[in-house]
Formats: sequence, C-alpha cells, structure tokens
Amino acid sequence: MNPAPNLVLVGPMGAGKTSIGKRLAARLGLAFVDCDHRLEEVTGAPVPLIFECEGEAGFRARETALIAELMRGHGQLVATGGGAVLAEDNRRRLRERGFVVHLQVSVSQQIERLARDRSRPLLAFGDKRARLESLAVERGPIYDAVADLAFDADGLTVPIAAERLGALL
Ligand code: S3P
Repeated sequence: MNPAPNLVLVGPMGAGKTSIGKRLAARLGLAFVDCDHRLEEVTGAPVPLIFECEGEAGFRARETALIAELMRGHGQLVATGGGAVLAEDNRRRLRERGFVVHLQVSVSQQIERLARDRSRPLLAFGDKRARLESLAVERGPIYDAVADLAFDADGLTVPIAAERLGALL
C-alpha cells in the first residue's frame, strides 16, 4: 500500500467512485467515506435540496469544509463529488493528505449509469450527453492534474475494477 494517509477517488459523476470505492475500501481495510453522503447526513437534506436552498456556491462551501476536515484524518478511502476538484484548496488538501486516483469512464458509460438518476442537480436540465461531454472537456484535465494515478474503469464491473485498482496500490 502506498504511504499516503488516505486514498482519494476523483472523477466524473457515474464513474463508480462510490460503488468501486466501497468495495476497494473493504479490500484494503480502509474506512469508506462518500462526501455527498456525508453532507446529506450532516445536513439531513439530499444533495438536490442543498443546491436548491443554498445554491451551488453553498454546496461547494460545505464540500470544501468537509474535505478540509476529512483530510486531517487518516486510514480513509474518500470518494469525492465530481466537482470537488474545482477548488484549489480542495486539490491542495487532497494531494497533501491523499493518494489521488482519477477514475476514468466514457460519457456513454456515465449515461448508462445515470440513466434513471435524479440526484445530480447539474444534470437536471437539458441534454445529458451534451452536459457530460462539456463537463469532461472542462474537468478532465483537472482530474488528471490532481491525480497520482489514472485508472480506466470503462466497461469494468465494480468487483473487477476494485480488484484491478487494488492490485495497483
Ligand atoms: C457533482 C457531482 C456529484 C455531487 C453534486 C455535484 C459535480 O457527485 O457532488 O451533484 O459537480 O460533478 P458524484 O460525482 O458522486 O455524482
């Protein structure tokens, strides 16, 4: 296992950060934390409602505070939200206190995974494919820049992805 205090998954919505992360954490003996789920626990509100009440800026402020808190700890596998890497403070803290893995997937696979999803406010309106493609262009280089390792999870089942990624760490 690499010597960083935490393992961090970054990547777009529908990449499998939560599902693969949970499995990988169990395999590696790390405590699993999903940032969105933690924010929902703390606020008692689902992510779309946080966006509705506090705006994206309010959600991002909560996300940044949570990442700062989590990165003071160790022994965790942290699945970040797809937009967490947008803030410079988050990128710095994730890199300082984590080994960062970029989970890569194709837009087609994201669409498959998110077909019936209603929990992503950024995909609530307009054409999903166009939105995901433009987010990929905008954020892809940021994921790559922040990551210590890029892992192509496209087309892999959750157990296979967790197994193969675990073997690399
Ligand atoms: C977001 C991704 C979501 C969630 C929020 C915003 C984004 O997390 O944090 O809806 O900006 O890409 P997932 O990547 O877990 O879907």
